[in-house]
Amino acid sequence: MEFFLDTASLDQIQHYQGLGLVDGVTTNPALLAKEGRDPLGQLREIASIVTGPVSAEVVTTDPERMIRDAQKLAGVAENIVVKIPASTAGLAAAYQLQKQKVPLIITLNFHAAQTVPFIKLEVDYVAVFIGRTEDFGIDNKQLAWDTRLAIDNMQSRTQLMAASIRNPDYLIDAISANVDVITVPPECWKKVYKNPIFELAEREFLESWQQLPEDLRRAYETLDDTISSQS
Ligand code: G3P
Repeated sequence: MEFFLDTASLDQIQHYQGLGLVDGVTTNPALLAKEGRDPLGQLREIASIVTGPVSAEVVTTDPERMIRDAQKLAGVAENIVVKIPASTAGLAAAYQLQKQKVPLIITLNFHAAQTVPFIKLEVDYVAVFIGRTEDFGIDNKQLAWDTRLAIDNMQSRTQLMAASIRNPDYLIDAISANVDVITVPPECWKKVYKNPIFELAEREFLESWQQLPEDLRRAYETLDDTISSQS
């Protein structure tokens, strides 16, 4: 299972690379626009600092232009994977791009049925959106399981990517569904380690520790003797 970072922020990518959490990067038009810079230049920089796959999404709904743009985006860097929307236009484009062996992520899947023709084409990835449906009061956690079953039963090489991972619960749901890749926004990782019960417990441990007289704590806190005795 691989963990991609879902952002177009160079700072965030470099930060999470330092934590071993960047097997790849996914961007989308909204994430690139959020950086407020030349998106093509931003994409080139991201692709240059990330060794794994970096996604770049087409910004058209016209299938012929999708094909042209996908071919050009794939040429930006060797590790670019092109994101195509899971629509009928996207299917027409993916059908042609597959023949040209353009690496593809089919995105904006909100129902497993959307993924089926792409799984049959054996595109590289299908990205299922787990969290965004919460905006409409819809719990879409089953989507990852349904799509996993579709890929396995269709015996396709397509990899399942979980996206729109808006909180720690969706992260665990994706792992439980045995997806191949989870693309995690930095905001989600921040939520994982902003756990109030953890903070209370850690504070309690350290405050309890401070109840010990300093002379009793010193050996444990310095460990000088331990290190010298082992050397
Ligand atoms: O890569 C897809 C992801 O960025 C979408 O997340 O939360 O905007 O649906 P979200």
